[in-house]
Amino acid sequence: MTDQNGQTAIAHTNIAFIKYWGKADLTLNLPTTSSLSLTLNEYYTKTRVEEADEDSLLINDLPQDGKRIHQFLDVLRAEMGDFPPLRVISENKVPLSAGLASSASSFAALTAAVAKFNHWDLSLEELSRLSRRGSGSATRSFFAGFAIWEKGDKDENSYAHALKTPDLPIALVVCKVSGMVKKVSSSDGMRRAQTSPDYQAWVDESAKQLDEMKAALAAADIKKVGEIAEANALAMHNLNLTAEDRRFTYLNQETVKVLEQVKALRKQGFIAYATMDAGPNVKIITKKDQAPAIKEHLAKRFRKIQFDIATAGPGISYE
Ligand code: DP6
Repeated sequence: MTDQNGQTAIAHTNIAFIKYWGKADLTLNLPTTSSLSLTLNEYYTKTRVEEADEDSLLINDLPQDGKRIHQFLDVLRAEMGDFPPLRVISENKVPLSAGLASSASSFAALTAAVAKFNHWDLSLEELSRLSRRGSGSATRSFFAGFAIWEKGDKDENSYAHALKTPDLPIALVVCKVSGMVKKVSSSDGMRRAQTSPDYQAWVDESAKQLDEMKAALAAADIKKVGEIAEANALAMHNLNLTAEDRRFTYLNQETVKVLEQVKALRKQGFIAYATMDAGPNVKIITKKDQAPAIKEHLAKRFRKIQFDIATAGPGISYE
């Protein structure tokens, strides 16, 4: 869909195995920790930008309050030089606001489409750095497979890069526990989590887990990858439960029941480890050849939950 007046980019969402859960600088959106993710093949956002009279946003044909997009476009204007108002037209193949980070693929696709529209000649790392100001998790959605967002300590050095790993037969069983819109936004959730007395310990542990995760990926040890990712995610959710500024949780009773089944699956000899983001959905890390049996085991027990199998996906592309 390239024509004189519009550009289209496609970004896939990513799931963090080492989470981003806290900000060191609110204006620049610098994180307190580095994070590591897997880009997924099955969920993506396709975004077209075209010149218009004012900045606006349409997602899956529905007009949206474009305030966050407008603010982000203004950041890009301030950083890169002025450009005309844009109509942003997004097709989202990510379950919205249910703990599958649609903001990751949305802001990555938007940054790439705007850069293309303006003929900015930028590397993936430079695009990643710019996208951070829209949404932190977007930084990791430019890269195929695994990516690391290095936290940095200033605007210039906080961006993601690809992490080369051996070919890993990794898969996720995505359990769509609830499609309900989350009550606490990621930004607000992080702010509150940062008031937990356990917060600094989580930051320190996260740095160790990142090193261990890199070693596990280099060794193609999916079991170890899962163990570290689950420990990191559970500790993140514990911060929410121990926040001094009003404790909260994204997890519901169904989430807890699925987590119990993940343990039961491990007892049966499966590789199965859970990770959750800002919502009740559970993503189970496993090997490709075990994913269908895990899905079947869960589908029998949870009739109302929808299950998908997701695999490693590509980096940014253009149409
Ligand atoms: C739990 O990227 O949505 O998914 O930077 O405020 O837009 P903002 O936050 P966002 O946070 C994602 C948090 C997470 C973990 C992760 O993806 O690392």
